[in-house]
Amino acid sequence: MRKITFVINGRKIETNERNTILRASLAHGIYIPHLCDHPDLTPFGGCRLCVVEIEGRGLTISCKAPVEEGLVVQTETPVINKVRRIAAELLIVNHHAECLQCVRNTECKLQDIAAYIGIEADHLQRLRQTAGDHPIDNSNPFFIRNPNKCVLCGICVRTCEEINGVRVLDFAFRGYETKISTLMNKPINESVCESCGECVVRCPTGALIIKDYQRPDRVVTTICPYCGTGCGIQLGVRGNKVVSVRGDRDNPINKGQLCVKGRFGYHFIDHPDRLTTPLIKRNGAFVKASWDKALELVATKFKEAQDRYGPEALAGLSSARITNEENYLFQKLLRCLGTNSIDHCARL
Ligand code: FES
Repeated sequence: MRKITFVINGRKIETNERNTILRASLAHGIYIPHLCDHPDLTPFGGCRLCVVEIEGRGLTISCKAPVEEGLVVQTETPVINKVRRIAAELLIVNHHAECLQCVRNTECKLQDIAAYIGIEADHLQRLRQTAGDHPIDNSNPFFIRNPNKCVLCGICVRTCEEINGVRVLDFAFRGYETKISTLMNKPINESVCESCGECVVRCPTGALIIKDYQRPDRVVTTICPYCGTGCGIQLGVRGNKVVSVRGDRDNPINKGQLCVKGRFGYHFIDHPDRLTTPLIKRNGAFVKASWDKALELVATKFKEAQDRYGPEALAGLSSARITNEENYLFQKLLRCLGTNSIDHCARL
């Protein structure tokens, strides 16, 4: 791809010709406030925060402006700051003021932008004259939609369309009534939403949040145990408990994306119903047993079935929740016993 050189804040930058001014600047460590742009999605140009000045052309939004050879761009001038401030205030004005109770507190991009622009806390409070309350959609088992904290950046709409290809969400209604909605404004559990959570992880504010979210104290990078795809995940751990899952953006298999099982199906890890010791049925009831006793019983029963009906009478079902290596050993064991009847749930 052809390289383009342009100047931003007096600094020469080289980037590829398909880049926008915003993305090229961010890649070179020059921050331009932005809310509706996301590196995984096509530029939208809705929030107007990413305004810059191009010499000889005037103000423009940098997320939609392609780089061009020889451009001279400024990101910080009194005029830019004024326009940016107005754009930010217009976004904040209808945003519910509950930062301290919001799970996105300190991780909210609107908060970051307000701080960067220098909108003081009391001014922020005065600005927040919310037009009214939209009902909160609690219908999904994994996440909550709160339109009162939505800034209409459209990231959820584009994520659902461009990444998941499902198109559950879109802009609906007009003017001050505009909101992100499902078809016919139904609760999200009555839509075709697959609960992948891709929109939730990209939402820049508290408009889409995970239910019962707890902030982890550390992150462990590993592989999702659900199927044979082997997506990279990052487990958020608090104490000894897994409290969240994120897709690993550095993993070449899924590049950060996850399905509903990988993202939200981790509660089996410490579920009280999870078996932690072998159980043997005695007189119609399961009783706890040692591994030695359980394996001895299985070996005896296998032998009996093999002697009576032949090795093809045996079959083995294993689980995607064990490692590939363990599954490999399992199929080896079954084949050594003389059967090819082996299956498990990881063969996607
Ligand atoms: Fe450019 Fe929103 S980031 S308009």
